[in-house]
Amino acid sequence: MAQLTGMEQEQEDIKQHRSDDRVVKIVLFGAGKRGVKLLHYLLSMDNTEIVAICDRSDDSALRAAAVCTEAGKKKPSVYSGDRQSVAEILDREKPDAVIIATYWDSHAGIALEAMRRNIYPGIDVPAALRTDDLWQLVETSENTGTPCMMLENWSFRKDNLAVLNMKRLGMFGKIVHCHCAHSHNCIDHWFFDSESGEARWQAEYLLKYNRMQYPTHALGPVISWMDINRGDAFSEIYTIASAPLGINEYFRDRFGEHHPEAGRKYRQGDIVTSVLSTKKGKTLVINNDLQLRRPYANRWMLQGTRGVYDEEKGSVYLADFSPEYQKWEPWQPYEEKYNHRWWQTDFPSPSFRGADYIMLRQFTEAVRRKGPVPLDVYDSAVMSATIELSGISAEKKKSVPFPDFTRGKWQTNQEYFAV
Ligand SMILES: NC(=O)c1ccc[n+]([C@@H]2O[C@H](COP(=O)([O-])OP(=O)(O)OC[C@H]3O[C@@H](n4cnc5c(N)ncnc54)[C@H](O)[C@@H]3O)[C@@H](O)[C@H]2O)c1
Repeated sequence: MAQLTGMEQEQEDIKQHRSDDRVVKIVLFGAGKRGVKLLHYLLSMDNTEIVAICDRSDDSALRAAAVCTEAGKKKPSVYSGDRQSVAEILDREKPDAVIIATYWDSHAGIALEAMRRNIYPGIDVPAALRTDDLWQLVETSENTGTPCMMLENWSFRKDNLAVLNMKRLGMFGKIVHCHCAHSHNCIDHWFFDSESGEARWQAEYLLKYNRMQYPTHALGPVISWMDINRGDAFSEIYTIASAPLGINEYFRDRFGEHHPEAGRKYRQGDIVTSVLSTKKGKTLVINNDLQLRRPYANRWMLQGTRGVYDEEKGSVYLADFSPEYQKWEPWQPYEEKYNHRWWQTDFPSPSFRGADYIMLRQFTEAVRRKGPVPLDVYDSAVMSATIELSGISAEKKKSVPFPDFTRGKWQTNQEYFAV
């Protein structure tokens, strides 16, 4: 049977879905801030059942189970502490999918146990921290035939998908260069408790490493704009880091100079910049900028031979379409005109209108039809690999080769994301 395109597959799904009430059973690992947010979206969907909640903390697991019953859904099993192994939980619950929103060091292990049982893992970012673990995810997905998806929500944003539609229509010409950033002060709320200033689990990484700690939101849309793993592949990464000044200064200002964090020596530079090149001669600059006081920004920019998109300016210039020669025009009308079909859909409520809902809906639909996931294991691996590789490059002060997780298949792989 001829392979269906993404659009045909989706129409087929919609037809089937009318008569297909199969419930997708899900186990949630990690019921902290992010896990509970994802839980709300999953509970809003028809034919999705949370069969179990697992968290190291009794309180978090019980609170999340209560969220399910308050939403009028079945009470899930609750696993807390480390009394049961991941394997035991999966063997007992037999879910179709797991959602993993735990600490970074456990993502790969849970996903591997799931795939070995043909259970789809949806892993919150990053898929794993170590390149060896990423290879294991790739190989296990290939050997078991179980798709594995990192839940990179910014790939599903309305603006980014419209840019992708336009890129596919050739409106930017041949893609030459992209820029992206995660500029988001996470010191005042995510790495440390916002009230007490106490270190949360993530802060340990800032003591141990100097690298792009959280690059996947920046990279998500860019890898499909640049055809990474589908016609092109990253070849090298070079990274430099600024001095670490922001954390100490924030703690001095907020809690006084005697606060332990005001003087602690952090390895993590305030702004880490990586430059990547591709096999086909494209370039990319990424900034990791998580510990300075500043407004949020992603600074997505895509530049081709016939046009340029600048997210921060809210502007676009297209040599073949823009009315004035080399003058910016507003982006918004293009976002509406080239709106992706995933955004032309009903949302359960206005507050769920967003990238997270679309991403989870696409993921659960893929699980229901036992088909490919919207972001595959190779893309998940590429985005996550920049973490360890950027650290190695910054330390060695030289560029390092980028692994090819597709083992050459990037040359013949067809585009698939949001096609
Ligand atoms: N995509 C996004 O926009 C986004 C936003 C925030 C966080 N995240 C990701 O979500 C994940 C969780 O972040 P968070 O902010 O919710 O952290 P959190 O500390 O609020 O929650 C993590 C929870 O996982 C539990 N946990 C840790 N290891 C576990 C294990 N092995 N088994 C079971 N439970 C375990 C902890 O007890 C905690 O309740 C991280 O990977 C983070 O990068 C993604």
